[in-house]
Amino acid sequence: MLIAQISDTHVASSSKKAYGVAPTADNLKICVDNINQLDPKPDLVLLTGDITNASLREEYDLAFALLNKLDMLYFVIPGNHDDRIKTKLIFNKHCPAVSTPQNFIQYVVDDYDIRLIAMDSTTPNEAGGELCESRLAWLDGQLEKDTDKPTIIFMHHPPIKVGVIETDIDGFIGANKLGEIVKKYNNIEQIICGHVHLQTHTRCHGTVVTTAPSVGMELVLDLTLKKPPQFVIEPPSYLLHYWTPYNNLVTHTISARKTDGPYLFKEQ
Ligand SMILES: [Fe+2]
Ligand SMILES: [Fe+2]
Repeated sequence: MLIAQISDTHVASSSKKAYGVAPTADNLKICVDNINQLDPKPDLVLLTGDITNASLREEYDLAFALLNKLDMLYFVIPGNHDDRIKTKLIFNKHCPAVSTPQNFIQYVVDDYDIRLIAMDSTTPNEAGGELCESRLAWLDGQLEKDTDKPTIIFMHHPPIKVGVIETDIDGFIGANKLGEIVKKYNNIEQIICGHVHLQTHTRCHGTVVTTAPSVGMELVLDLTLKKPPQFVIEPPSYLLHYWTPYNNLVTHTISARKTDGPYLFKEQ
């Protein structure tokens, strides 16, 4: 099974760039074209939140039009820049959540070698992550249904601090309780997230938390924790999670940019 993960597309209105400079819609188009030309093609694509930059209807419409160019199934979850109601309205087929009073967008995709569990870590008008008791109880119930099948949990916010100030200060309410649940199961291959706008991999309660690069704009890595958060505009990149014939999950980073090559490993 092959899963492409794109994240933090931050699509701005067709006439605008995010924050006045980031060509996020163009970057998403480049990414979609790149994914479509992969051989083999991914079975599906996951978009791990911050679909739009400001939750505007026109941003959702543009993101929807761009994502519908994908040749394969895709699923979405909201990020802190999104609006749950609009996400569900526009991407209804692509986030098949059972309805709840709070409109949490949580669902399971279980038609492949890996079970995918979508979690909604957002709180309206808050930058940080949260999994409340009801969302966590739902997750525990889903995990209990199959304690053998390899499983990926995907959500926008990583339930850990990754050592960069921009997103660490946002916090994650319920991270410890999530950890208590996660460590009960040994079939959670990875928890894959976005939000940080940097690729990271961290051990966490017996599994691995991965954050994907942003399609829209990358965070400047500042390990001094002293500089104001800044971003740079790079060629868009995304992750490929490959469930190999050897039954392990390997994550590759794909940069959707023009490269020099390929060359064979011999004198040219
Ligand atoms: Fe983001
Ligand atoms: Fe975010």
